[in-house]
Amino acid sequence: MRLQNKIAIITGATSGIGKATALRFADEGADLVVTGRRSTLGKTVEAECRDKGVRCVFVEADHSKAEDCQRVVDVALKEFGCIDILFNNAGIVTKGTAETTSEETWQATININVTAVWRMSKLVIPHMKQQGRGAIVNNGSDWSVVAGKDAFPYVMSKGAVGMMTKAMALDYARDGIRVNAVCPGDTFVDRWMEKGYFEGSDPVTLEEAMKESSDYIPMGRFGKPEEIANAVIFLASDEASFITGHLLLVDGGNTAQ
Ligand SMILES: NC(=O)c1ccc[n+]([C@@H]2O[C@H](COP(=O)([O-])OP(=O)(O)OC[C@H]3O[C@@H](n4cnc5c(N)ncnc54)[C@H](OP(=O)(O)O)[C@@H]3O)[C@@H](O)[C@H]2O)c1
Repeated sequence: MRLQNKIAIITGATSGIGKATALRFADEGADLVVTGRRSTLGKTVEAECRDKGVRCVFVEADHSKAEDCQRVVDVALKEFGCIDILFNNAGIVTKGTAETTSEETWQATININVTAVWRMSKLVIPHMKQQGRGAIVNNGSDWSVVAGKDAFPYVMSKGAVGMMTKAMALDYARDGIRVNAVCPGDTFVDRWMEKGYFEGSDPVTLEEAMKESSDYIPMGRFGKPEEIANAVIFLASDEASFITGHLLLVDGGNTAQ
């Protein structure tokens, strides 16, 4: 129960890494506000977390909208009275080069992957300052530290997440607020089978994914959402009490080569 008596907001917890983190946070005793646009999936996550014995509220929210970010924080404070942990997880994966990226894709990527991280942090920090404690974990990517081809808007956004993490860590280090990022390598989530790796790309089967990953990832496989969740728990918990401004790569060795 490493997160017992902690109140956490997890953005984009309707599927994938966010959902896995919500369930693992519940295992560790955290009370939760979970968000996303797909309310049926969100309600399921809410119920699964409650079944584990914690309090959990799903808030339907589009984090690219300022008013929805505000509403999520308002609900958390109304329901639980404080916010100990913010996991800025909601994001989209967009492809393209500098030439082929449209204005629309550029803006959509920034709105959710960058601006939402800033807005949510800006909203919770005053409360964390008042409490004298808090942990923010941002979901970056191995592409927060190295680039990849044909993923220009996404790489740009995750690079920004890395530097927002470090900048906020410095600004709030004396306020008891730690700010870190988990940086997953390729992690197999249901979205890959439903919609493909990038927005608008072809779905992949588990077999195709396993074959591809064994070629280029030193550990020979993609990550599992629960493995990313475990790193988030560590960064969010008091076990990481002297860690701030850190980008924790969880990538099967991909960026070591
Ligand atoms: N899987 C990987 O290989 C990998 C690697 C590195 C980093 N990441 C990062 O991990 C995070 C989660 O992605 P995932 O791989 O777990 O994929 P996913 O299953 O597609 O999860 C994305 C989550 O973000 C939410 N979301 C997206 N846009 C949103 C918006 N405008 N407002 C509110 N919620 C929104 C989605 O919820 P709704 O659709 O219900 O709104 C969903 O819950 C992302 O930040 C991604 O960049 C993933």
